[in-house]
Amino acid sequence: MKKIALAVSAIMLSAVTVAMAAGDPIATRKTLMDANGAAAGASAAMLKGDLDYNPAVAKSAIMTLRAVAHSYGSFFPEGSDKGDTKASPKIWSDHAGFEAELAKFQADADAAAKASGKDGPADLTAFKAAVTPVLGHCKTCHQDYRLK
Ligand code: HEC
Repeated sequence: MKKIALAVSAIMLSAVTVAMAAGDPIATRKTLMDANGAAAGASAAMLKGDLDYNPAVAKSAIMTLRAVAHSYGSFFPEGSDKGDTKASPKIWSDHAGFEAELAKFQADADAAAKASGKDGPADLTAFKAAVTPVLGHCKTCHQDYRLK
């Protein structure tokens, strides 16, 4: 299990650094969202019981979601609405709304990180309580700010 947790965080972090180094905002924000997807996937597997609950994996998922929540907003410069992207034009036309959505995602991710403690949430019930509000933002933000 330790090995899995370490591998999960190593994969997520290397993916993020590679895209940032390339200086391409569209590729970077997709990479960040892919890390979100992996963290949500690991979380869902534990919540559904497909993967035994492990506090280190749980904490790694929460910290990944939080890192994405805090960095994501920096990769929407003017002009990056064009290209190979599913980002909705609403992100630029209703920027305050997008920022507000992001702020809620950040606040819930911060709360989940705080509830995780040093070693991760103590059990599955504590993890579920911490991570469920964070995962709720995937759907709401995609509905409003991601193209189909
Ligand atoms: C604040 C808004 C917001 C939140 C919250 C959000 N997303 Fe996204 N997501 C987007 C946008 C915008 C795109 C499209 C980005 C693009 O194509 O440039 C996207 C794209 C994606 C993609 C496709 C990435 C790719 O490679 O094209 C995945 C996977 C994803 N999100 C997963 C998630 C998951 C899982 C969560 C919740 C943990 C989440 N997102 C939360 C806005 C958000």
